[in-house]
Amino acid sequence: SAKYRPFPQVNLPDRQWPSRTLTAPPRWLSTDLRDGNQSIIDPMDRAKKNRFFDLLVDIGVKEIEVGFPAAGETEFDFISWLVQSGRVPDDVVVQVLTQSRADLIKRSFESLEGAREAIVHLYNAVSPAWRDIVFRMTRAEVKQIAIDGARLLVDEAAKRPGTKWHFQYSPETFSTAELDFSLEVCEAVMQVVGPSAEWPIILNLPATVEASTPNVYADQIEYFCRNLPNREAAVISLHTHNDRGTGVAAAELGMMAGADRVEGCLFGNGERTGNCCLVTLALNLYTQGIDPGLDFSDIDRVIETVEYCNELPVHQRHPYGGELVFTAFSGSHQDAIKKGFEANEVQNDPQWRVPYLPIDPADLGRSYEAVIRVNSQSGKGGFAWVLQQDQGLRLPKRMQAHFSRHVQAMADDLGRELNAADIWNCFRHAYYLE
Ligand code: KIV
Ligand code: ZN
Repeated sequence: SAKYRPFPQVNLPDRQWPSRTLTAPPRWLSTDLRDGNQSIIDPMDRAKKNRFFDLLVDIGVKEIEVGFPAAGETEFDFISWLVQSGRVPDDVVVQVLTQSRADLIKRSFESLEGAREAIVHLYNAVSPAWRDIVFRMTRAEVKQIAIDGARLLVDEAAKRPGTKWHFQYSPETFSTAELDFSLEVCEAVMQVVGPSAEWPIILNLPATVEASTPNVYADQIEYFCRNLPNREAAVISLHTHNDRGTGVAAAELGMMAGADRVEGCLFGNGERTGNCCLVTLALNLYTQGIDPGLDFSDIDRVIETVEYCNELPVHQRHPYGGELVFTAFSGSHQDAIKKGFEANEVQNDPQWRVPYLPIDPADLGRSYEAVIRVNSQSGKGGFAWVLQQDQGLRLPKRMQAHFSRHVQAMADDLGRELNAADIWNCFRHAYYLE
């Protein structure tokens, strides 16, 4: 099927509204192996991390946070093994996270020994609650932690000229901190690192705990982008969490507010309610006609690997991926979908205009059988479509009405939904074909 067909958008009365739209994908960073991994009951072992890493590479993720090397031996060993194994493709860059403490920073660099290219991600929390309650530190002391960490990044990198180094700094708890203070700390880090347009620093601005409506986060991002001196020497990155259920929305608005990059996890894994779901965000772009640069054309394989590695199920109603999202049980929906598919086939429409389905399931490797499911509530459109696809049978309208009584009786008797084979059996019995 044709790719990136947009689902029809709202009719714009004039060019003023909506004020902004998404026009291009961000740079993607997967933190499945770090934020995702630190949030699951049984953290992944090397085999699982490796399998997940390969999946991310296959999907097309080019920046992958592979862990927190100073957190423990399993993390350190995996990272060190990975970078030395030659398994990191030339166009993929690994990233590791470290708190701003000398011993942890040094250990992080050790884990990357032999890497061709790597991002070292430094963070410390900057918001008042963390300063006052967790650390009991003044603003100046918190800023100094970031400066000292940045200095050590520069020094440790200089000792290892064989690796192409990049630095990322996160003012953790950014979204609940005073904006001018976050700017002040980030500027101080930039002064130490000395980034340029050719060698930018990544400034990652987390909604560590999602605390406001997504537009507020976007306003914070916009203010930050506008007021950061030397903006061209920074890649502005978003790292949203989903505590209010709006992690994806916050990332979308943050992109429109000027950010360049998004961090997240497949199917929204991550601490507590998770990070921004990269699948949802990428396919939201797709359904607006934008190539997200990530390949979900075999979404079932992605789900299988993610469920296996995280030992968490993907919810049946999860956008795009859930088992039930391309199904319709209600008769009127089934009828509309059937008409949409038929119209779409003949028209070869540049838009994807099948009612009730925001995307062609075939673009995600899903088959028609998964689209329309038949149970006792279903109308004629559903089973007629399944029979047509499965057996090539087009039932005349009056016959559909007649046959629907048999289908509903069978669904009631069995007490479950009917698959294509059930419907064909039902048809053969009803019309004495055997
Ligand atoms: O949520 C967060 O703030 C983080 C940082 C370490 C980036 O995960
Ligand atoms: Zn996080």
